[in-house]
Amino acid sequence: MATTDKETTRTPQEYEVMSGGGAESAEIARQGLSRRQLLRGVVGLTAGLIGVESVGAGIVMIYPTLVGKFGSKITLQAKDKYPAALPADFDIENGKGVFYESTALSYIVHLSKDTPWLLQGQDLQNILDSEWIVKDPTDGTYWAAIYQRCVHLGCKFNFRTDCRSFKCPCHGSHYNDDGEWLSGPAPRSNDRFLIDISGKNIVVDTGKLNQHVQHPSPTTLLLKELPIQVPCNT
Ligand code: FES
Repeated sequence: MATTDKETTRTPQEYEVMSGGGAESAEIARQGLSRRQLLRGVVGLTAGLIGVESVGAGIVMIYPTLVGKFGSKITLQAKDKYPAALPADFDIENGKGVFYESTALSYIVHLSKDTPWLLQGQDLQNILDSEWIVKDPTDGTYWAAIYQRCVHLGCKFNFRTDCRSFKCPCHGSHYNDDGEWLSGPAPRSNDRFLIDISGKNIVVDTGKLNQHVQHPSPTTLLLKELPIQVPCNT
């Protein structure tokens, strides 16, 4: 699966605070701490009071619901529940190529093995790896888990089948089927979670977010803009 050495600058939970997250995110925001700092504080306090052997239990008390929830690895449906499609055929209402998963706050994108990438060979592989788009060795299709928050100011964006693309309702940022920036004020392409396609089910690690996919350039652009997408740029 695709990975990168780049660390996220903010955890997804902290990102959710900015956009209206859950209880754990609220605690992080209230204390003005990063999740890592909060965990470190919990570990130190618990170890000092009742011994090292109870640290794990202390963390569980603070984070009773994190396992399997947003901020951790989330197991979704079996892979065959997400049929692949060509970019021009993406249709969220009829389950072709793009699927919304509310527990992972993500769009699962499944591109056909015949996707007309603009790059080839190692150049293509390098960009896919850096953008956390994973090629499935079993059938040659491509997978990504795109975080639902717009990288402009954090609104939830939608997949618009009439545009065959993602469109943010707030200020109009427009993203291609693979999350690449097309137009609008967004400073970069969409953020993506780490996706694991190696088992029967799709697993999305919502604790690992790639926030480093820049606007595509002529040397990194993966997908051509489709004629049906052009009117949705405004
Ligand atoms: S928040 Fe999406 S375009 Fe501004």
